[in-house]
Amino acid sequence: MAATFTPRSILVTGGAGFIGANFINHFMPANPDCRVTNLDILTYAGNLENLKGVERNPCYRFVRGDICDAPLIAEILAAEKIDAVVHFAAESHVDRSISGPEIFVRTNVLGTQVLLEESRRHWQGGVVPEFRFLQVSTDEVYGSLGATGYFTEETPLAPNSPYSASKAGADLLVRAYRETYGFPTLNTRCSNNYGPYQFPEKLIPLMIHNIIAGKPLPVYGDGLNVRDWLHVKDHSRAIETVLKAGRLGDIYNIGGNNEWKNIDIVNLVCDLLDGKLGRQQGENRRLITFVKDRPGHDRRYAIDAGKIKLDLDWEPSYTFEQGIAETIDWYLANREWVADVTSGAYREYYEKQYGDRR
Ligand code: NAD
Ligand code: DAU
Repeated sequence: MAATFTPRSILVTGGAGFIGANFINHFMPANPDCRVTNLDILTYAGNLENLKGVERNPCYRFVRGDICDAPLIAEILAAEKIDAVVHFAAESHVDRSISGPEIFVRTNVLGTQVLLEESRRHWQGGVVPEFRFLQVSTDEVYGSLGATGYFTEETPLAPNSPYSASKAGADLLVRAYRETYGFPTLNTRCSNNYGPYQFPEKLIPLMIHNIIAGKPLPVYGDGLNVRDWLHVKDHSRAIETVLKAGRLGDIYNIGGNNEWKNIDIVNLVCDLLDGKLGRQQGENRRLITFVKDRPGHDRRYAIDAGKIKLDLDWEPSYTFEQGIAETIDWYLANREWVADVTSGAYREYYEKQYGDRR
């Protein structure tokens, strides 16, 4: 795979969140000559402590702001001579979208449209010789699979939750900007990520957190729903690959070839933590509690990641065995991070570092 594009100044949206922060932590050391501007409004999911390793790098700039704020985005694009946008910012949790869908439409649909529009104007202004807009999306836009089959890039969109509908809406706007204006877009669709800095509302960190605390482990429905798990560092590498070498206008599915039933993951995490916490074998499994199912709960996701392997020579490097053990170790070694995000104390970090400044 030959890189066709060397970005010099990228705008990362949502870079204080789980995947955005992992991406910046991966991208900056690997691309020391590229400036990175991180635009993040810092919702409950945005945490600047995730970026301690890069915050003093002179090529890094943090801006606290909203992707719906058109003048702010225009200002950043011009001031930083941005030549690529990597768009992570979103409301990302399915359960929250069921209890409150509005903010999902505002951030994920309207926010993406504002970013697209300001980026299009900037691109058409000709300030930078080359430009690209990478929309980070999800396999959930394809809906749910039965017991067999895989999502390909041609699978029709059939989102089932307000979250996935809002992501599908954003993807369709990206498509429309490409078709209408010839705007240079890339669109990735990834399966479930796991790894360090994931907010403990998502399955794996929630289970780790509750096991450590000896709290019940809520498993939705019969626990037989299937997800395809990918380490966030592999996802970060895939995004870098698509940004540099992806074919403009294309969609790339990203997955781990790693399907697990929820209950099997929960049992595995319980058993690994029995050992690591010095508890009796089987002790943690007693915390498992089957609870009412998530409404509209998609039964199975499974990605066919053949295109990105064939065209761009990307494939996962982590085995799940290695990735899950490292992830559990990270959460055990970073209990303070978990305590801070669950108590809300992590917000003080922003005030200390940045005060009231944007
Ligand atoms: P996250 O919830 O951890 O982080 C989202 C970030 O976006 C936060 O830092 C938040 O402060 C920021 N943000 C929210 N609204 C904003 C706004 N209006 N303006 C600026 N910033 C705002 O999410 P994540 O899990 O890191 O997911 C990142 C992206 O990847 C999302 O687009 C998501 O749809 C996609 N994705 C996630 C997964 C996964 O498994 N987590 C898988 C595939 C795709
Ligand atoms: O597939 C990619 C998507 O993966 C991303 O687009 C989303 O942003 C991300 O949140 C994730 O969505 P899921 O709904 O698959 O992830 P979550 O961790 O919320 O749930 C994983 C599975 O575990 C799902 O089948 C629901 C189940 N679950 C989840 C939680 C939080 C439980 O059984 N109990 C729980 O407490």
